[in-house]
Amino acid sequence: MEPILPGAPWLIAHKSILGVNKPNKITLNGQDYVIWQNQKGEVFALDNICPHMQAPLSDGWICQDRDTIACPFHALEFDGQGRLQQVDKKDGQPITKVLELIISNDCIWTYAGFEPRLPIPDLYQKIVDEYEFIGVTGEKSIEGEFLTNLMVNYDYNHQNGTHKELFKITSCNVNHFEEKGYSATVKQELTRANNTLGEIIKNPILGILPKTLANTLKYAFPSTTALLAKTPIGDIAQIHILYPQTEKITKTFILMYAKVVNPVMKFLFKNSVLQAAATVIEQDTNAVESLYPRQKPKIRLPNEEIMFYAEKLYHNW
Ligand code: FES
Ligand SMILES: [Fe+2]
Repeated sequence: MEPILPGAPWLIAHKSILGVNKPNKITLNGQDYVIWQNQKGEVFALDNICPHMQAPLSDGWICQDRDTIACPFHALEFDGQGRLQQVDKKDGQPITKVLELIISNDCIWTYAGFEPRLPIPDLYQKIVDEYEFIGVTGEKSIEGEFLTNLMVNYDYNHQNGTHKELFKITSCNVNHFEEKGYSATVKQELTRANNTLGEIIKNPILGILPKTLANTLKYAFPSTTALLAKTPIGDIAQIHILYPQTEKITKTFILMYAKVVNPVMKFLFKNSVLQAAATVIEQDTNAVESLYPRQKPKIRLPNEEIMFYAEKLYHNW
């Protein structure tokens, strides 16, 4: 496939989801890679195709003492530099491609061998400094083009339909939109309906969210949307990640960070926030996967310029 947005930094994983000495397969822009983390927390990634007879390395296993991955077919071993491990020979030449990684705050980024066109977004540093990491949630491969998924993140009207039940939203006001090239900031105010006790028991996030939510969204095109929200129990920083797996499949997951003072509340808060975010992804996925092919819209809604701004960045890449 033609790579989508070559030269963009893609956040392909968080260290916490890789496990230790366990091969993981990831697909980026039509290419499969195997990625693993050793017991020291070092991360390696190679082309997933074994250079011997093309077996998928991600079905193999990690040899802990040698820091190598063994192929599932004939058990040849490769180190993190793509070199064949040989008993009597050291420092051979790489015979398989290494996926170059940039690791920052446990987030694993790559340009997949393309000349970088944008820096790794720095909005994380602020979040990592101030908030505590609480987990990854909502991991999904969505059947839908990258652009369609991207536009959902810049769409300030879909909460009225797609996420109506989850948050009981009655109105959404965007009072600020500012863009500077590939980064943008949006401030929104959401008003929610009153919730009955029964509703809160079924969906605990309703008990945590205030009646009016003032959220800030920070975008780093094309991979990242950070949502900063304040609730009476604690503050949430949710980083929504997207990358193109293939032309028609888009990967998504959410990195969740929070600031909660009360330790008892923390546990409850953590679970309901992670659960709600997973539901949000579920709902966005259903929305994207059920769309008919796109046509020129005959109606315009407010704030759609935010969505068209992202679409333009995509087409002008
Ligand atoms: S195919 Fe990988 S070792 Fe033979
Ligand atoms: Fe959504």
